[in-house]
Amino acid sequence: MADLFRLDGKVALLIGGAGGIGSALSLGMAQQGANVVVASRSGVDALGKFAEEIKVKTGVETMAHQVDVTSEESMAALVKAVIARFGAIDILVNAFGLNIKRPALEYPMADWEKIFDVNVKGTMIACKHVANVMKEKKGGSIINLSSVRGIRGYGGGNSAYCGTKGAVELITKALAIELAPYNIRVNALGPALIITQGTMHIQQNPELANKYKALIPMGRLSVPEDLVGPAVYLASAAAGFHTGQTLFIDGGATAS
Ligand SMILES: NC(=O)c1ccc[n+]([C@@H]2O[C@H](COP(=O)([O-])OP(=O)(O)OC[C@H]3O[C@@H](n4cnc5c(N)ncnc54)[C@H](OP(=O)(O)O)[C@@H]3O)[C@@H](O)[C@H]2O)c1
Repeated sequence: MADLFRLDGKVALLIGGAGGIGSALSLGMAQQGANVVVASRSGVDALGKFAEEIKVKTGVETMAHQVDVTSEESMAALVKAVIARFGAIDILVNAFGLNIKRPALEYPMADWEKIFDVNVKGTMIACKHVANVMKEKKGGSIINLSSVRGIRGYGGGNSAYCGTKGAVELITKALAIELAPYNIRVNALGPALIITQGTMHIQQNPELANKYKALIPMGRLSVPEDLVGPAVYLASAAAGFHTGQTLFIDGGATAS
């Protein structure tokens, strides 16, 4: 039973894998035995340092590679480098993303395009390129990062972000259907607000923090580690018949 959740010998590619959520997921996958590739636009010096830390902590093989998911050329180069090093990609976690909050009545279309480029086009580019190699290896697990904002409307300048996460929701379902014949499962994680460096100001402002907590029946804000178990589950043999779904890890926020 315990082995159902192990990822020994698997290769996990985490795009945005050194980010607020991604860094917890990279470590979590490595702790279950997966070799981990951390990728984002940051230079390989910064990513390499983080990848090395994971290797020292867990003993798995790690790799760092620069990628901009909005570019097919850049994504193809990443996939080629991972295959050259490890021969396969078994798990893809799309832990990258962007929010640009602007009032809807003034939303600058340049920002709209930027956020859709990363969150929507980037998700499709990453899934497409990695699924092509998973298909050859007869299977894999893809985990996208959605949000409670992918199924609920939010004000406060979130119109573009909600739009992108709604798109991630349905891209996940459509790909799950189209890739099922290749034994590639496609799911998503749907967190509520998670306290990372980028959202620390909320935690540090009691009035604001209480406003967010009031939306969460479990009465606390989420941390990146809350997503590790669900991500490992979706990546593992335990989720072998689970595809096309979003796991909302939100302390009950979307239960009502
Ligand atoms: N934090 C939350 O409260 C929360 C809640 C719900 C959902 N989410 C979703 O969870 C995901 C991760 O969020 P986070 O809080 O961990 O954000 P984060 O700390 O800002 O990390 C985002 C990561 O994405 C990478 N990235 C951005 N643009 C990229 C690009 N064009 N190509 C490759 N990598 C790119 C960044 O690295 P570089 O700068 O090095 O490229 C960074 O590692 C996002 O999809 C977000 O929408 C977050």
